[in-house]
Amino acid sequence: MPSEETTAAGPVPRKRDDIPGWFFGLDRAAFSHLLSAQTAAGVSGNILELGSYLGRSAVLLGDHLQPGERLTVCDLFDSEAADAENAAEMTMSYRKTLTRSAFESNYLAFHAELPEIVQAPTSVLADGRIPAGSCRFVHVDASHLYEHVSGDILVARAALAEDGLISLDDYRSEHTPGVSAAVWEAVFTGGLQPVLLTPMKFYGTWGDAAAARRTLLARDWRAEDYAVDEDTIAGHQVLRLNYQVKAPAQLQRSASRRIALDLLPPVATRATRRVLRTLRERRDVRPTPSS
Ligand SMILES: C[S@@+](CC[C@H](N)C(=O)[O-])C[C@H]1O[C@@H](n2cnc3c(N)ncnc32)[C@H](O)[C@@H]1O
Repeated sequence: MPSEETTAAGPVPRKRDDIPGWFFGLDRAAFSHLLSAQTAAGVSGNILELGSYLGRSAVLLGDHLQPGERLTVCDLFDSEAADAENAAEMTMSYRKTLTRSAFESNYLAFHAELPEIVQAPTSVLADGRIPAGSCRFVHVDASHLYEHVSGDILVARAALAEDGLISLDDYRSEHTPGVSAAVWEAVFTGGLQPVLLTPMKFYGTWGDAAAARRTLLARDWRAEDYAVDEDTIAGHQVLRLNYQVKAPAQLQRSASRRIALDLLPPVATRATRRVLRTLRERRDVRPTPSS
């Protein structure tokens, strides 16, 4: 059996899924679609990520860099947080596993050069070191505290070019109410327009949201087993993207599920449970406590 390659930072990932983190298939597809569509449309600009952990999402962002474009990542990595609440968050979720050198070695397993790395609280980016309007895509996935996320959204807004896109993680998780508050506040008072919602991430723009939605709808997601829905939230049209839930899983959510399973012959019940289990596994359910 071939031995696993390791560095001082740990095992070298062979595939992107080997990198620990919280970036899953559905958002990977949404990121890739939006970034590729920008490139195809001749839109260029830098990419910024706030909160990279061990590089799982950063590696994908790096895949989309075109000549002349730059990826900047900002993370505390193994530095101290600036306040007690953030320090507690770091201890609970990241300290045991996260080092800057592990991020670097994971990133370099897939790309020839490191991105620009800012090892500091994301609040340092408010000093204007990211040139205004220089980015086409910003991924916000750092602290989950309301005050920090509000600041991160302001940094993203200044960094983004006119029709640039922001993706915000954990906008609806039970354990991250501060993110929800900051995101919807930006929508209702800060001009942020929702474009797309997935179970994990909010996507929006301060530019042409209708154009971004058209870009998404140009793909036949349903043919690829995704579900696309449209909603209106206080006058904002928004798309929702998830995996399609097929007939057996709909049973899971209905009150009649248990009865149905009880009434089915044992062989059919086992088969139905197998399908349900597979669908649950595909649904990118994040363990808690989490990111
Ligand atoms: C959820 S993880 C990022 C996950 C990563 N994007 C992925 O897809 O796997 C959050 C990251 O934010 C970082 N972080 C937390 N608070 C921060 C702060 N105030 N400033 C900068 N980074 C912070 C943590 O060190 C951690 O690496």
